[in-house]
Amino acid sequence: MTQSRTVEHGVHPIFVERWSPRAYDESSLTEAELQTLFEAARWAPSAYNAQPWRFVYARRGTADWQKFLDTLIPYNRGWAQHASALIFAVSAQAFVPPGKTEAINTGSQSYDTGAAVAFLVLQASLSGLSAHILTGYDKEAVKKALALPEGYAVESAIVVGRRGKADALPPELQAREVPTPRRPITALVSEGRFASKDA
Ligand SMILES: Cc1cc2nc3c(=O)[nH]c(=O)nc-3n(C[C@H](O)[C@H](O)[C@H](O)COP(=O)(O)O)c2cc1C
Repeated sequence: MTQSRTVEHGVHPIFVERWSPRAYDESSLTEAELQTLFEAARWAPSAYNAQPWRFVYARRGTADWQKFLDTLIPYNRGWAQHASALIFAVSAQAFVPPGKTEAINTGSQSYDTGAAVAFLVLQASLSGLSAHILTGYDKEAVKKALALPEGYAVESAIVVGRRGKADALPPELQAREVPTPRRPITALVSEGRFASKDA
């Protein structure tokens, strides 16, 4: 962990030690390693327990790998091509609440899918893997690559792999291959009434 991450209050190290590298070692991931990540995501909370998240993945070395990579903007493709798996998180837009027959849109599907993705990347960290969420892709190309039906929205991609050497990255990315700091809690939290410290 670098100096850039200072912890104000004791929390489990998993929260602070997770970060999003861009250097990966081109190794393979087993199906079991990936399924462990989806298992963690499965236990995320969601409105109505609707569990609107869906994941579609491609592993390095399979027929789908290049197709998935090609949907990323060149900046992201440049480093993500060295990872081991590329996962797209999509959300279901319709949900039939228990006891009802008509589908509703909970309005929480993106929020809930974000929670599931957070669980997934924390599990990656616990599993000794690295993960990097991104939204720098061509959304229409993603829909096409996944053969995504109507009623589902693309939320994010998660690049997963094992950390590689930073010096294999282009110079501008080498400088960014470190954990980022965070705003102080006092800038984000207030008691009783809203008091953001945004400039
Ligand atoms: C919704 C979302 C979209 C992101 N999109 C990109 C992206 O397109 N390219 C990229 O390199 N990083 C992307 N990131 C990574 C963030 O820059 C990173 O999470 C943030 O700087 C905090 O750093 P950390 O994850 O290492 O703690 C994205 C993260 C999130 C949550």
